Amino acid sequence: MIKTFTYKELMQLPSRYRGQLLNKVSGLKPANLIGTLSKTGQTNLAVFNSVVHIGANPPYIGFILRPTTVERHTHENIKETGVYTINQITTAIHQQAHQTSAKYDRSISEFEAVGLREHYHLDFPAPFVTESPIKIGLRFEEEHYIKCNDTRLVIGRVEHLQLPEAAIAEDGSINLAEQDGVAIGGLDSYYSVDLLGRYGYAEP
Ligand SMILES: Cc1cc2nc3c(=O)[nH]c(=O)nc-3n(C[C@H](O)[C@H](O)[C@H](O)COP(=O)(O)O)c2cc1C
Repeated sequence: MIKTFTYKELMQLPSRYRGQLLNKVSGLKPANLIGTLSKTGQTNLAVFNSVVHIGANPPYIGFILRPTTVERHTHENIKETGVYTINQITTAIHQQAHQTSAKYDRSISEFEAVGLREHYHLDFPAPFVTESPIKIGLRFEEEHYIKCNDTRLVIGRVEHLQLPEAAIAEDGSINLAEQDGVAIGGLDSYYSVDLLGRYGYAEP
């Protein structure tokens, strides 16, 4: 039996059920922690599953921000300081990473609350996550308001990239499975990943 839903039926579902269904239906997503610093020097860390590659030339990465109808510390800090970090979540830290999604008070650092360590690189004024093997430092570039659901696409330029030298192949490729990175299903499920194969540029 195949279960089917029309737009109208989806809109009639209880909101939590619809959220679970739609958050998972597009497949697995990358698992990252975004680290920021407020203008008063308070660090903040939160899990995001919507990080997306925008382009490599020049290097831009984006993420989707939920509606700003409640306090969004990550977004406020990015607007205040112009910088933030994206740090890959591994199997070893995925439970601590998940805990950063709790609504901690502005005065609490999720680094401390969940037991992850801050790492600073050169003079870049945003906190990286020591435990993450792949760390990206970004400078805010632009944001696009998404009218249909009151969200935002926030885009940053990659200013710093830190990862183990051994993880980078001769051609610049990274074996993500070797870094023990995880993928996220919806808002509550974490998966480990295996490499199935690597293929050359496809020709017709
Ligand atoms: C698995 C997971 C993925 C999430 N992804 C996003 C996301 O992509 N965008 C977003 O705005 N919030 C996302 N959230 C919610 C934030 O983590 C949550 O709102 C957090 O409290 C934000 O913290 P902040 O106010 O310190 O920025 C996600 C939560 C979970 C559990």
